[in-house]
Amino acid sequence: MGNQIFSPGEKPNSLDRVDGRLKVTGAAKYSAEYQLPGLTYGVLVTSTITKGSIKNIDTKAAERAPGVLAVISHVNSVKVPGFADNEHPTEPSTGGKPLRAFHNDRVYFNGQPIAIVVADTLERGQHAASLVKVQYNKEEHSTDFEANTGKAVLPAQAKKNKDNPLNDYNRGRADAYKTAPVKIEAEYIHPSEMHNPMELQSIIALWEADDKLTIYDKVQGTKPTQKAFAKEWNIPVENVKVIAKFVGGAFGNGLHNWPHETAAIIAAKQVKRPVKVAITREQMFTMVGYRPRTWQKIGIGASPDGKLTGISHESIGQTSSYEEFTESTLQQTRMMYAAANVSTRYRILPLDVSTPIWMRGPGEATGAFALESAMDELAYALQIDPIEFRLRNYTEADPEKNQPWSTKFLKECFQMGAEKISWSKRKMEPATLRAGEWLVGYGMGVGTFGAHRGSAAVRAKLSADGNLLMQCAVTDIGPGTGTAMVQVAATSLGMAPEKITFDLGNSDYPMAGNQGGSSTVNTVGSAVQAVCKALKQKLRDIAAKKEAAFATASPDNIIIKNGKLSITDNSSVSVPVSDLLQQNNLQEIEATEESRSGEEGNKYSKYSFSVHFAEVHVHPKTGQVRVKKAVACADAGTIISWKTAANQMIGGVTGGIGMALTEDAVMDHRFGRYVTKDLADYHVPVHADVPHVEVYFVNKPDYIVDPIGTKGLGEIAIIGVAPAIANAVFNACGKRIRELPITPDKILL
Ligand code: MOS
Repeated sequence: MGNQIFSPGEKPNSLDRVDGRLKVTGAAKYSAEYQLPGLTYGVLVTSTITKGSIKNIDTKAAERAPGVLAVISHVNSVKVPGFADNEHPTEPSTGGKPLRAFHNDRVYFNGQPIAIVVADTLERGQHAASLVKVQYNKEEHSTDFEANTGKAVLPAQAKKNKDNPLNDYNRGRADAYKTAPVKIEAEYIHPSEMHNPMELQSIIALWEADDKLTIYDKVQGTKPTQKAFAKEWNIPVENVKVIAKFVGGAFGNGLHNWPHETAAIIAAKQVKRPVKVAITREQMFTMVGYRPRTWQKIGIGASPDGKLTGISHESIGQTSSYEEFTESTLQQTRMMYAAANVSTRYRILPLDVSTPIWMRGPGEATGAFALESAMDELAYALQIDPIEFRLRNYTEADPEKNQPWSTKFLKECFQMGAEKISWSKRKMEPATLRAGEWLVGYGMGVGTFGAHRGSAAVRAKLSADGNLLMQCAVTDIGPGTGTAMVQVAATSLGMAPEKITFDLGNSDYPMAGNQGGSSTVNTVGSAVQAVCKALKQKLRDIAAKKEAAFATASPDNIIIKNGKLSITDNSSVSVPVSDLLQQNNLQEIEATEESRSGEEGNKYSKYSFSVHFAEVHVHPKTGQVRVKKAVACADAGTIISWKTAANQMIGGVTGGIGMALTEDAVMDHRFGRYVTKDLADYHVPVHADVPHVEVYFVNKPDYIVDPIGTKGLGEIAIIGVAPAIANAVFNACGKRIRELPITPDKILL
């Protein structure tokens, strides 16, 4: 079914993906696809116990197997310099210490890489890996979240710094909800959710010299990865080159560097040849992070006229025994609604499992499931329409920080979404609307995520033939960064997009951080705009020598149209760019600009907002839930690239449907192993699960966040989807499901 995008007033700009053809024809090259001379294949051997130590590792048979170059474990691994000190070699750092590949004999989780076999073909490597025999000293493990919640702790990073937002938060009276005339107290469970992008995590590592490393790696940032491995190997940053030209989907799992990467780099050092490691689908469940299992409890109360009096929100998220993973599960509760009394309490629970990592809308998506479900429960208890209830508690300023919003157009999202989903058909009383045998329900959920802007630099070269090439180290994990950046430049320069190329994914290019936290367009887009302005300034100065009119023209009014430098408000002058360059003996005009936010923005609270709506059908006899229609509304500032932005929203809704209805990482605690470890058992939504999705953008600029007016979109695309569906399920059949995923057994019980 087709998807539509809506914009009030403006005709959407719909540039096609600049790399779409490369992707669909297979010409786009992903990390594992580079063919290097002498390439070898690394296959990881993983632990079969959950906790303990390696007593003995017998590699003789593997070493003798055909094609094997080396079998490396803690017994014979080169010493990694960065493992020696206590610093955290990964960026961004978390509390604790990451797993250090082959550093010692300890086993921290089931499936931990404990050895790597390097062979001349993948198949020979796989065969040899099967011949490695390991004996363990087994220790008793704890992987069961529910059995251990009493051991949850305040994160060490919060203990160290009382201003850390992970600390307990109190506004007004503690637990004020308890004395409210109408109140809800409920617990919500979110299971661990696994990263399953199409592209498996993979790396090719090559030592060009003893202190010079090149890696082709599936990561979300070439510069952060460069820094991390320079630190890990104690070599100069400029001696590490990271290539990540195409990334086949990443939603947070490439924001951290993982043991399989270090394993490949160690192996390449020892065999003195390039080593490729592409982890398996099963290994994706334990080696590259996941959205952590989380328990939440909400107490929420209101006066009979629907004014919130208090919210208390507690959360416990799982982490590993060796590393502290935290996320902002409770942020939305602190700032979304105008309650005078709000308290939040965040804890983590270390277990004998691998470390979680951010996953799209990290923290906020989990927190919004609890908060927006509880809001729906309370609205029903009050017999007030859920949208009306939220409007009665709407905030015109940030109640957490006591400062104005940079921009907030959430009301517009409510209004447009309600219209598009046909909210007026919704009945207050559940199980009263039918379509044949099916019960019909409508639900909605609000989402928010901070509008962040970092610093980035972009280089731009305009050549005599009128082509513009831009370069930046940023990655594109799927949203279509190149497309959006071409659009920013086309708008700024007045140039045809076909003449513009945005080259990315190489640590040799000008600086950019990770693609994460919905900040790329804000950050890199601002740098693109800045470099285009610098380019126009240079061209104007050259042109002024020839045409006096250019001397007084503002760079803002200068455009490059059909290869000619022109002034927007003076149509009588224009100079071909090729003439300008030729007359000045130039092959090209080049500029590099770095762009970052100033202090002014700190006076404002900067957030993107979303509202998701769902129409679901529930079968009363089978418990089957079908999402029949979804409407996604976003206040994300200016929309730069309409087609790719709408793609992002549809992708977020798809991920949210998985979170709500299908995704569940199930572990057998007797063994500490996942029983769902492939796409047959771990269900991600497929086309048949995803309905018609309508996307609506408010499209109003926020120039406090950045000069191009954007606020960020990737995270709010998923935050609020799961509660919208859970609330719609309640509205359809009267069952309030507080433990995800909402499977038929829970509906029927
Ligand atoms: Mo995103 S969770 O910042 O990749």
